[in-house]
Amino acid sequence: MKIRLILCSLAAAVSAFAVSGCGSSAPKGAEGVADHVIVLPVPEREPGQTDVLNLVTEPMDTVRVAFVGLGMRGGDAVRRYTYIPGVKIVALCDVYEDRVKASNAYLQERGFPAAQEFYGDTASWRQMVALPDVDLVYICTGWDWHTPIAVQAMKEGKHVAIEVPAAMSIDECWELVNTAEKTRKHCMMLENCVYDNFEMATLNMAQKGLFGEVIHVEGAYLHDLRSMNFALEGEPGHYADMWRLKQNTKRTGDVYPTHGLGPISQILGIHRGDRMKTLVSMNTDEFGMTAYAKEKFGDTSAFARTPYKMGDHTTTLIRTEKGKTMMVQHDVTSPRPYSRIHQVSGTKGFAQKYPMMGIALEAGNEALSNDYQNLSGHSYVSPEVLDKLLADYQHPVIKQVGAQAQEVGGHGGMDFVMDYRLIYCLRNGLPLDMDVYDAAEMSCLTGLSELSIENGSAPVAIPDFTRGAWNRLQGQTYAFTPADAAALGVEVK
Ligand SMILES: NC(=O)c1ccc[n+]([C@@H]2O[C@H](COP(=O)([O-])OP(=O)(O)OC[C@H]3O[C@@H](n4cnc5c(N)ncnc54)[C@H](O)[C@@H]3O)[C@@H](O)[C@H]2O)c1
Repeated sequence: MKIRLILCSLAAAVSAFAVSGCGSSAPKGAEGVADHVIVLPVPEREPGQTDVLNLVTEPMDTVRVAFVGLGMRGGDAVRRYTYIPGVKIVALCDVYEDRVKASNAYLQERGFPAAQEFYGDTASWRQMVALPDVDLVYICTGWDWHTPIAVQAMKEGKHVAIEVPAAMSIDECWELVNTAEKTRKHCMMLENCVYDNFEMATLNMAQKGLFGEVIHVEGAYLHDLRSMNFALEGEPGHYADMWRLKQNTKRTGDVYPTHGLGPISQILGIHRGDRMKTLVSMNTDEFGMTAYAKEKFGDTSAFARTPYKMGDHTTTLIRTEKGKTMMVQHDVTSPRPYSRIHQVSGTKGFAQKYPMMGIALEAGNEALSNDYQNLSGHSYVSPEVLDKLLADYQHPVIKQVGAQAQEVGGHGGMDFVMDYRLIYCLRNGLPLDMDVYDAAEMSCLTGLSELSIENGSAPVAIPDFTRGAWNRLQGQTYAFTPADAAALGVEVK
């Protein structure tokens, strides 16, 4: 009984939660059982409010873009946008005047007209998002500003593109969803990793049946950011006002889940035929931040004495409605090679990107042509066969823009593919590759993993942000104009 009582009363103490399943009988030898799940309330839609699945808006010849947040990420976004046809950069905003001036100088160097400037404080974006001649607000600030700026911009009639994660709490996720549904504006989270070559190729392979039924997927953000988190102003990699370090201080859980989660969500068709139903999350204690702070600043320094709430390594396990599992990890504190894992395991095959890129496919795979011989699920295909698979299953989006993306760059080109696709879809009045539900689903792990950890790794129900429509669309799609679809050999449904 002890376990059941502790867990039930613990959940009851958290006023917003409903708790299900407290009454199960205990297995032999156990004192009690706690199969209950923390369930958060789902806000009701207002009268007349409907979902924005497959939202399309009027095609626009030129997309007028306003950028807010011109640090390491935003500055490069402005550069990339100068290579996209049909874009006019009309406004630039940052707290710091010199960052706005530098991006504006760059625009003019590249032969574009100067943009309107907004700077000076953390609220000047309000004037910018109210400008009448802006179609899209592109948000690259630190995390706490993502949702407030996006919500206000949508209310001002703008589409929004938000850096990752789009939201930092469940309330913020719902705010984005509700505002997008009420305003009928696009709200896309800028999850660039779905556009990387291997991720897109494995999506294509999965959709063509190479892996059979995909049953388990893994993703991660394993990236040693200690030097950046502790970089002081003027040092390389410094985050403005050390915003990321502050997040490590006040938050726990997986605060940066989207790079790992994005590509594997697309493979499982999350809110396009399946949905993430329940998660449990567990983390280590914090060791690495304090150790690094002591080394860099000394044992008695303020940085070394600061309590960092975030555990070094967080693992979240998710079960989907259709009985699949997902594992998502986060660690920005340990010295280890960069990895997003990107693992796909199915009834007929397996793929993994990190630490070693490889694909294994069972012999006799009906989805494959006779070109592929001597396959075995027990071992990776040879490097030559891997190259052939990646070429044969290159995603149409990479065929469309991959070559130009290699030239423009941005994380090996994937950033440019993402930007190009966003503008392409807006200009052609097509549904965007990722919608507000993707933004909410991928971002909700921030709040839900924290909730699970703070409640002894209790299971937490993942809200259905579509409020019942998760099974209406079937599978991730990328939209093209009829002419481009024909040129790329894409079947138009
Ligand atoms: N998708 C990716 O691969 C990727 C890579 C790096 C960063 N990011 C994301 O990009 C965002 C920015 O990261 P960064 O590395 O550029 O950080 P940064 O600290 O270099 O830049 C943030 C900028 O936002 C500005 N800013 C903050 N609050 C503002 C406000 N209220 N109004 C106007 N400007 C404001 C800051 O002055 C700063 O110039 C973060 O959300 C981060 O997670 C994504």
